[in-house]
Amino acid sequence: MLFAAAPFLCAREVTYVDVAPILYKHCAGCHHPNDIAPMAMLDYRETRPWATAIRESVLSKKMPPWKADPRYGTWSNDWSLRDSEIAAIKAWVDQGSKEGDPKLLPPAPVFSTEWKIGKPDAVFSIPPHTLTPGGPDEYEQFTVPTNFTEDRWVIAAELRPGNRKIVHHAHVFVNAAEKQKSVKTDTAKDPQAEYAQWLVVNENKLSWIRPEAPVIDDGCVVDDNSYWPGKKPRDAEFGNWGMLSSYLPGREPDIFPEGTARKIPAGSNFSFQIHYSKATKKPEIDVTSVGIIFATEPPKQIAKRVDLSNFFFLIPPGNPNVEVTECHTFKQDMYVTSLTPHMHLRGKDARFDVTYPDGRKETLLFVPHYNFNWQITYRMSEPKFIPNGTRLAIISHFDNSPNNPLNPNPAEVVRWGGASEMEMMDGWIEYLDALPGVMPAGQSAQARF
Ligand code: HEC
Repeated sequence: MLFAAAPFLCAREVTYVDVAPILYKHCAGCHHPNDIAPMAMLDYRETRPWATAIRESVLSKKMPPWKADPRYGTWSNDWSLRDSEIAAIKAWVDQGSKEGDPKLLPPAPVFSTEWKIGKPDAVFSIPPHTLTPGGPDEYEQFTVPTNFTEDRWVIAAELRPGNRKIVHHAHVFVNAAEKQKSVKTDTAKDPQAEYAQWLVVNENKLSWIRPEAPVIDDGCVVDDNSYWPGKKPRDAEFGNWGMLSSYLPGREPDIFPEGTARKIPAGSNFSFQIHYSKATKKPEIDVTSVGIIFATEPPKQIAKRVDLSNFFFLIPPGNPNVEVTECHTFKQDMYVTSLTPHMHLRGKDARFDVTYPDGRKETLLFVPHYNFNWQITYRMSEPKFIPNGTRLAIISHFDNSPNNPLNPNPAEVVRWGGASEMEMMDGWIEYLDALPGVMPAGQSAQARF
């Protein structure tokens, strides 16, 4: 009934019975009580008042929020609507948003308030944090020991805010014990690392780059040009990059691809980074937690992640289109499983282009209208084979003009920094090593390059 769009749209009246399955599947995931959307859409009564707004939001493609250009890549978490579904919603509203026969309604989905990953094997929480009203938003860091005495493998991780009214976004990183030690000793005898430290200002738990730091907008002049000098990931570290999970608007929990797991070395700490919003103007308390599920057997493959960043860009005041790039050549065969562009309020668009060793070029992902409020991880329908020697270029644009509705201050010179009013230019990449004879789940034979 649902997808036979053209004939049924002409033949008879379209009612809520026809559109409910579309709303359940594509909207209710956020539009249910206690989730991020302001209203629920689980029955006719609560959906009807929004009918006109729903029509507008799907015609303009504002909802469901999905930002990837459909010309490039296919994504397992693509929740965007087909044209026939948009047409059905439009017809329903144009014909008076009627209920139809409720006996014909399919059952509404049930959303539990429990963990989305299922019951976690372990939960790690920050100590209760009190937020006082007034003043700017807070960026807090909390370190929570895992007390793991041996390496553990994690197949799923979910970062859950304790108080959704104040947790704007949050990340949890794994700090391996040996890494915690090595940083200090390195700096003492390495002038480059010392310079790198000088370049970063750390104040009130926030970091930003010194205004007098060199300016490099085109990070592709040389590979990894824009890493902090001395902070470039060493080969041993590459892919074991620290972030485990994030809580961001529009982002689902981290469930690593079948047969893969992330490693948490013995003695690691979890480091939580949380942006608290003071919008409620009341005292608030938060206890944010990460829930994890362990692998029952050693993984066939390690789920890896690397973050490529340009730290040295400079965005002049008022400029509507500042290009900032970053490049990296991969030194092994791998399967990329997801891509996440990350910028702040002035982020405008982002493109991930690869050049294969034979010179062929391909766009893996293009997000033409980046929006800080929708930080989506684009998960590939099939892991993408990337041969050794492939060069990835991330090309982003920033809009620092007064025409950008999210722009906090178009008069400002903007450089790298952790606060939302400062900028970041990152591409987060999840991948698996391509091992001889091992095909990742979901990978069909012809998909290998
Ligand atoms: C990933 C979560 C998510 C999904 C999926 C989603 N929404 Fe929303 N929606 C939100 C949030 C959050 C808001 C409030 C903030 C905003 O307007 O951006 C919202 C706001 C809206 C509004 C008010 C818009 C306005 O202009 O103020 C409408 C209407 C709406 N959604 C309809 C839909 C419909 C229809 C679908 C499915 C086809 C859908 N949404 C899917 C999260 C979602």
